[in-house]
Amino acid sequence: MNSTLLPALLLCNSLANPLGVHDPAPRLAWQLVADDRRGIVQTAYQIKVSTRPGGPADLWDSGRVSSEQSVQVRYAGKPLPSRTRAYWQVTYWDDQGTAVTSQPGASFWETGLLRRDDWSAQWIGAPWHGDQRRGAHAPYLRKRFELPAKPVSARLYITALGLYQAYLNGHQVGSDVFTPGWTDYIKRVQYQVYDVTELLVSGQNTLAGVLGDGWYCGHVSAEGRERYGRQPRLLAQLEITGRDGQRVTIVSDGTWQVARGAIVENDLLMGESYDARQELAGWPGAAPDDRTAAVTTSRIPDSESTARDATPPDLWESAMVFPDPGIELSPTLARPVRAHETLTAKSIVKTSTDERREGFIFDFGQNLVGNVTLRVKAPAGTTLRLRFAEMLDASGKLYTENLRTARATDYYTCKGDPAGEVWTPLFTFHGFRYAEISGLPDKATPDTATLVARVLHTDLPESGDFTCSDPLINQLQHNIQWGERGNYLEVPTDCPQRDERLGWTGDAQAFIRTGIWNRDVAAFFTKWQRDLADAQGSTGATPPVIPSTDRSGNDGGPAWADAMVICPWTVYQCYADRALLEQHFDSIRRYVDFIATRTLTGIRLHPDLPHWQGFGDWLALDGSGKVDGGTPKDLIGTAFYAHDLRLLAAMASVLGQDELARRYSAQAEQIKAAFVRRFVTQDGLVAGNTQTSYVLALHFDLVPPELRPKLTAALVRDIRSRGTKLSTGFVGTPYLLHVLTAEGQLDLAYELLMQKEWPSWLYAVTQGATTIWERWDGWTKEKGFQDPGMNSFNHYAYGAVGDWLYRVVAGVELDPAKPGYKHFFLQPRPGSRLTSARAHHRSPYGEIVSDWKTSPETFEWEVVVPPNTSATARFPVPANATVVDGNTPADSTMGVTQVRREGGVLTCELASGRYRFRATWPKDEATPVPADARKTL
Ligand code: BGC
Repeated sequence: MNSTLLPALLLCNSLANPLGVHDPAPRLAWQLVADDRRGIVQTAYQIKVSTRPGGPADLWDSGRVSSEQSVQVRYAGKPLPSRTRAYWQVTYWDDQGTAVTSQPGASFWETGLLRRDDWSAQWIGAPWHGDQRRGAHAPYLRKRFELPAKPVSARLYITALGLYQAYLNGHQVGSDVFTPGWTDYIKRVQYQVYDVTELLVSGQNTLAGVLGDGWYCGHVSAEGRERYGRQPRLLAQLEITGRDGQRVTIVSDGTWQVARGAIVENDLLMGESYDARQELAGWPGAAPDDRTAAVTTSRIPDSESTARDATPPDLWESAMVFPDPGIELSPTLARPVRAHETLTAKSIVKTSTDERREGFIFDFGQNLVGNVTLRVKAPAGTTLRLRFAEMLDASGKLYTENLRTARATDYYTCKGDPAGEVWTPLFTFHGFRYAEISGLPDKATPDTATLVARVLHTDLPESGDFTCSDPLINQLQHNIQWGERGNYLEVPTDCPQRDERLGWTGDAQAFIRTGIWNRDVAAFFTKWQRDLADAQGSTGATPPVIPSTDRSGNDGGPAWADAMVICPWTVYQCYADRALLEQHFDSIRRYVDFIATRTLTGIRLHPDLPHWQGFGDWLALDGSGKVDGGTPKDLIGTAFYAHDLRLLAAMASVLGQDELARRYSAQAEQIKAAFVRRFVTQDGLVAGNTQTSYVLALHFDLVPPELRPKLTAALVRDIRSRGTKLSTGFVGTPYLLHVLTAEGQLDLAYELLMQKEWPSWLYAVTQGATTIWERWDGWTKEKGFQDPGMNSFNHYAYGAVGDWLYRVVAGVELDPAKPGYKHFFLQPRPGSRLTSARAHHRSPYGEIVSDWKTSPETFEWEVVVPPNTSATARFPVPANATVVDGNTPADSTMGVTQVRREGGVLTCELASGRYRFRATWPKDEATPVPADARKTL
């Protein structure tokens, strides 16, 4: 029998049909088609790769390979030169001999410009520029050219130092936002490739682009403008193939024209100013008008006026050609930022602005990251001001103090179009729930169409969700997801609103496991790992933020810089991406070896060493009164060092480097011994005596087994002494509930999860939060707002508890020995007052589901095990329960094997498929599930 595999399930390097690939051995993946049958397993596959859709396998024929491997299969065919499209087709055979083949011609990857001399384009831009404080007019660039006929194929290879938006014949090219993305521009810039065949016409054509300042020369964090360069530049190469096979190449060079247009100023942190009266007539259509725009320059009636040019815009002039900066032009490894849904305001309230002008505050009901689309009808010269905030203060005004120096203000000056005007900024984003508009003509009342919020983030496919019977926990999960969306914007950031928005390593490593549950971040973190390697100092140190803003190559410190090890290992575990480990093993190793140079008597960052000790347990509320908490920093350092060494040893084993694996494991044991010597007493007390001290010692397995109960008792004591409250910061929080669960304190873990008084996860939820707050006490009834110097309402680190919801409450757990969920565990641990929970997660093999419901006499559990995987299921059932799958006793149903019951737990092996288990027992005769049973799950 034969059937067809849907192309949507085929990926190349975690992307669907990528263009601009440089990888000589891309990794191919397909998902087996799921049907009602259980136990579907792949027994063999064959991949054919061709230069023509459906053509002969002239690039590679893997032959029939007997293997279950259906993810991360590497191309091993002919080397591919630049600009080659490789069509790939897979056939797999399942355990019944059924062959399934993917659609011919539907799946491909295409190589980019692999060699530097493939590029003949030059870097171009405008002769004007801003200064250290302010940006200048965005350069509008264009080039006209004639084509004798509509081409058969055309690719635009394009990038910028700064940001760009390209247009062909007036059509926006692609739907990507903030391209080319953020990398260390001193070393590399990514380029994008667009198939623009359909946008070209016979006759006159115009290729155009507008440049933004972005990370290149706009503000990055509080460190000011021009981190990398002075003014933005464009590099574009349009390669057009005609019917006769002739190639015409249009490149950016000195023949392009440049002009000032309507974007008066733009900055990711400060906002964008647009004067519609300065729109360039006809730009960027196929036959642009040479006349300039209307010549009045905006005067923004505001002390922060951004229209500084008193002169009218110049005529189009020749673009300025910049010398080649000599940096690497790199492939784009991840999906771009894109606009997702739009949100309309839930309410619009009249306000008076700080300057006592009339304004209106739009409440979008959700703290989000993006910008707004403005619709307005007003006389020419009317300037509207848009400001943004995450919260309102006690008087109902925007709370913007926490934005620090990020002005986060957009201006729009109307051209007076009687039909109305619509505007969305191109080169800025804000973190906000509230937007305030002021400057509308007298008596004009805005409505919900006036401002519509547009959600922006890296385009990461959704890959999971968690819901349960408790609405507050569901809101917590919602907040975690929105925190992820807002902060996975080009790089994993700490926050999206204030003058920071950086790739903070500590935050990234704390949240990555949760992030993976919700979204497919494989490509995103592959790209970021390249950024990590780029930022590594000559000593091997990894800086605290990536891309590094100071490029010092300085040590980011414990739990921050360790992202270098933790993130790739987590990606490997969840996606089975061995290539990532292979590619970065040397830099990861250099990093871990560097830590050895910061270690004395086995103690990392021992106080006798002269080095900076790191950020500690950032924002812990452990009574120390310090922003970096009371957990000794050398303890945190040593714990993470041991952890790094073990992960490195595991990576070495995966890569077949057994000698190194042994060496790093042995080193880990020495560090563990040093940890015990210095930080742990015989009575099981750990230095610092903070929750995080105990959590790290237990979670990283740093104490002898006989001491574990004592450490646990001390941890529990501390939690209880605070009225059943946590006190952990960024470092301890991700592991806290996992440790309690593993140490037989599941009920306490649930109590902490359900705690509504601060510090707790649900406190913010009960206060109406729609994202995760940076601080447990970002706002409290007792104290109001925390210190505005550090008070983001969209920081995902504490959202790391999401991992516990999936792994413990719903009970989906990977098997480290079979990464990527080839085999996994399903072991829900119901608790507290939850009567149901459901998690689903799109693993590389397909969707996993764990969906349970309890009542006093039943436990119902629906699970899905994707094809080509298997799972070990464990669930709590009283000894006298009857357990069925559908209507069949569970021990005689298809796909279920090795059923065993022990201590109130039923364990069995599941082949792929959907199962509906139902355990029932007579209400009054039920043998209660022993508490221990839940512990051993
Ligand atoms: C960031 C944090 C970060 C920290 C380092 C802050 O400013 O917002 O999330 O990890 O600095 O301690």
